[in-house]
Amino acid sequence: MKKGKQPAEPYRIKSVEPIKLLSRHERLKKIKQANYNIFKIDSEDIYIDLLTDSGTAAMSNAQWAALMMGDESYAGARSFRRFEKVVKDIFRKEFVIPCHQGRVAENLMFSTILQKGQYVLNNTHFDTTRANTLHKGGIAVDLPCREAKSSEPLPFKGNMDCRRLEEFVKEHGAEKVAMIIMTVTNNSSGGQPVSMANIHEVSEIAHRYNIPFYFDCARFAENCYFIKRDEPGFANKPIPEIARELFDACDGVMMSAKKDGLANIGGFIALNDEELYGRLTELLIIIEGYRTYGGLAGRDLEVLAVGLQEVMDFDYLDFRIEQVAYFGHRIKEAGMPIIEPTGGHAVFIDAGKLLPQIPPKQFPGQSLVVEFYIEGGIRTVEIGSIMFAETDSATGKIVPAPRELVRMALPRRVYTNSHIDYIADVAQRIVDRRESLPGYKIVRETKFLRHFTCDLDVLAVEEEKVKP
Ligand SMILES: Cc1ncc(COP(=O)(O)O)c(C=O)c1O
Repeated sequence: MKKGKQPAEPYRIKSVEPIKLLSRHERLKKIKQANYNIFKIDSEDIYIDLLTDSGTAAMSNAQWAALMMGDESYAGARSFRRFEKVVKDIFRKEFVIPCHQGRVAENLMFSTILQKGQYVLNNTHFDTTRANTLHKGGIAVDLPCREAKSSEPLPFKGNMDCRRLEEFVKEHGAEKVAMIIMTVTNNSSGGQPVSMANIHEVSEIAHRYNIPFYFDCARFAENCYFIKRDEPGFANKPIPEIARELFDACDGVMMSAKKDGLANIGGFIALNDEELYGRLTELLIIIEGYRTYGGLAGRDLEVLAVGLQEVMDFDYLDFRIEQVAYFGHRIKEAGMPIIEPTGGHAVFIDAGKLLPQIPPKQFPGQSLVVEFYIEGGIRTVEIGSIMFAETDSATGKIVPAPRELVRMALPRRVYTNSHIDYIADVAQRIVDRRESLPGYKIVRETKFLRHFTCDLDVLAVEEEKVKP
């Protein structure tokens, strides 16, 4: 998408939240105090926050109004019934289990169905999905399509490789596969969408081998938009109709509703298997709360009921996806290599390519994350070897992540295109001095999800950087 072609925001601003840019000297101090881990910086010290599109959406006037309708009864709340009806309509499943966010849905599911040593197959696991699988003794296997690695701007690079899927099931046996999951859109693979054709093919394989087929559908509406725009036969279909076809292909869904729920908190499982529903809700009551609130307030359920419908509005989606494309265009124009085409919720910069002087073990992605903060007060996130490096169990060697990426996620309905132009100017200044960017080392880490909490130190220490 070229500058100038993009539709304007299909909303106007009714309430604003001030943001402030600290001085460069203050930013240098803050990042050092945070041990170069951007998660440890307070939001008031961030100018533009692209850490995540999760739980960061701006709510509509209809959502704020719905919030006042919250029924906070412990059991059988009116708000749950409203939420349940919307979820059943969109996701086409009989049983709805609310929970407070996506990883709880994963925890509930894998604690209940997974036996030690069983596989969970995914187009690409998101980090919490992978961590929850491993934590319950499972083995997480990614089966992305071959095009996922291509630098060509092909559509539907989020697809699963069906040939590898079937080979895997034949080789290991269907009984060893606890679940096949399709992540839509495929967050860890550049936010790329999955085609309807691929969904039908995976569904057919899963059902032929009697393996449960679920969606991790945090960004289902964005995926439906791509199907409408880019897949033959869908151009004239409304988004809700595409969503119906999508969800009719699966046995159930796990959703972090903090994305396409257009809400600040929330998640759920929806499924048709009554026996499994019973087992899941037993655990739900132990770890989250009763069946009709699952760790959420009644007002949260009201907000979600509205958000899940608003997110399927074509004008909203058209602006959203084209804004991300415009963002990608500006970052590329600034000289940073990005994953193309841009996906639904973020621009992914290939830091490995941008900073060839920094090897994966010195985390080029993290170097770029730190630099975006120092240069412009912008918070981004590394999706590379800090997040995804693994230790090879046979050799004990560290295997780096497939790519060293930096994700710039766009919160929904929050930033305008002038914010995007500012970020592109910052990117340009970083590109101009990219050879001077240093590598980093981890000095403290946890066993799971280390990126959230690890401490780092700069390798080629440039002490002058922290001088006033
Ligand atoms: C694809 C996907 N699945 C699951 C999750 C986990 O959701 P939550 O952050 O609500 O726990 C995320 C969060 O970003 C995600 O992108």
